[in-house]
Amino acid sequence: MQIIKTAKELSETCRQWHREGKSVVLVPTMGYYHEGHASLMDKARTLGDKVVVSLFVNPTQFGPNEDYASYPRDLERDAAIAGEHGADLLFTPEPSELYAPDAATWVEVPEMSNLLCGITRPIHFRGVCTVCTKLFMLTQADYAVFGDKDWQQQAILRRMVRDLFYPVQIVGVPIVRAEDGLALSSRNVYLTEEERAQAPEIHRALDYARTMVAHGETKASALKDAVLRRWASKLPLGRLDYLQVIDSNSLAQVDEITGPATMACAVKMGKARLIDNIRLN
Ligand code: PAF
Repeated sequence: MQIIKTAKELSETCRQWHREGKSVVLVPTMGYYHEGHASLMDKARTLGDKVVVSLFVNPTQFGPNEDYASYPRDLERDAAIAGEHGADLLFTPEPSELYAPDAATWVEVPEMSNLLCGITRPIHFRGVCTVCTKLFMLTQADYAVFGDKDWQQQAILRRMVRDLFYPVQIVGVPIVRAEDGLALSSRNVYLTEEERAQAPEIHRALDYARTMVAHGETKASALKDAVLRRWASKLPLGRLDYLQVIDSNSLAQVDEITGPATMACAVKMGKARLIDNIRLN
């Protein structure tokens, strides 16, 4: 596996691969790999000839009081995991490589970015769209692979790619969970033992809502009430950021389920902010 740090080298390598008729699959990541990341790389391996993994903690998607500086990092271990999971190239740029000091261009999808996570993280998705655009441009990737855990991110990127005719296909990969149901996340390392013991209740309650839908419930308010009641007794260390029933594609809030619907949430536990979602139908 090659490790590349400059945008120029990344672009030249990918261009050469394209000239040779090879397809390129991109896996954008911020590192500190767990099995969820490994599943993205494994999926990428099945989609094309060359797999590029980017490992970049993107400063522009963190707000001023967020965890950019303390975000967990372990390049050596990550490089070993990427190699084991079939990456041909690991791109690990410094921030100055992707953002010139006078960089003035942003890409955003405002209507879908101001909801859900965007309410408490107002600049987050602008940073995500901008860095993904740079990575799509540099690699000219045929496919880009993202985890379903960040459902809002994926829906926004799909819209961006569609609206701006980016020649890349977004591929989603199912959430990987610990045995007790907690969605794997690099930020789970922030949880204390007590918080970690309660955290699986986030998924259990969402799954309960999914069962209610399977039994005929269609009202978002009934589903949300049931989830909040469960959390009140079983997740006392959790502080609700949001819980919403949304249209799975547009992310618009849904009162009555008539089409593809997803329940999405963010819950703060101590230093961690955990997101999760479940497809309801
Ligand atoms: O999901 C992530 O890890 C990040 O938001 C991404 C897509 C790598 C962009 O920095």
